[in-house]
Amino acid sequence: MPDHRARLESLLRPGTKPVGGGDFLDLLGEIPQAGPPTGLAQRLMRTSAVPMIYERYWRPALGRVAKGLNGPTMADEVRIASEALGLRPGKVVLDVACGTGRFTRAFGEAVGPEGLSIGLDGSAGMLEKALSALNPPSVAYLRADAVDLPFGDSTVDAVCCFAALHMFADPDAALDSFARVLKPGGSLVMLTSARHGDQPLRLVDTVLGRLSGQRMFDRGEIAAKLARRGFDHVDERYSGVTQIVTGGLPVNIRK
Ligand SMILES: C[S@@+](CC[C@H](N)C(=O)[O-])C[C@H]1O[C@@H](n2cnc3c(N)ncnc32)[C@H](O)[C@@H]1O
Repeated sequence: MPDHRARLESLLRPGTKPVGGGDFLDLLGEIPQAGPPTGLAQRLMRTSAVPMIYERYWRPALGRVAKGLNGPTMADEVRIASEALGLRPGKVVLDVACGTGRFTRAFGEAVGPEGLSIGLDGSAGMLEKALSALNPPSVAYLRADAVDLPFGDSTVDAVCCFAALHMFADPDAALDSFARVLKPGGSLVMLTSARHGDQPLRLVDTVLGRLSGQRMFDRGEIAAKLARRGFDHVDERYSGVTQIVTGGLPVNIRK
């Protein structure tokens, strides 16, 4: 059986040193957070209470409010992400801002024991909760900043980032990082915020976003950002105030 943690370490940028040992690889150590805090939503993720209720209650409930009654269920989200990434046995997939690892575990099943499913998050509480679940052997967890991914260039086949881009301090830097670590031909899928197109809903979205410290992206904004970074086959689907955006890097991209 391959040593998945050693494999994860081999993908890190040369010179990257884990500062904390334990069940997950820790690149932040005593630093309590990844990047500057961006608001209430991100602060709550770092408490010890939210990780305990996150996967079962918090995410499904708030997700339903954000996606609307007809939006995808949690199981739908996992299926959509797995299909968009085209995961197959042996692939390396990175779940950025993995929280308690719901997607990471599913990806681990899809890539099988010869593959690697990496769950990266800045919150130690989230990662401890992720580790307490039944994880397939292909899963390894890493504590690091999503905005400046610690991986070498062109090291992973697929990147997923669900329900997090809008809370990062610098989403553009995060997108640069996603494109950098993806191999040519690699796939990206994200779920993030999407402001309504018309007033007054647009204004309400903006105010709610400010109060919770979450950026509200415009419709089409993320797709355009991906196209500027060389992604093609960019697709967007909207539900409520959310969007799922997918894209792939061409196999012949010059990076
Ligand atoms: C709403 S949760 C999403 C979890 C999971 N992807 C999902 O869809 O259920 C957002 C996650 O982003 C993480 N996070 C926020 N900012 C981060 C950063 N700069 N670096 C790493 N993780 C971050 C939080 O700790 C939290 O676990």
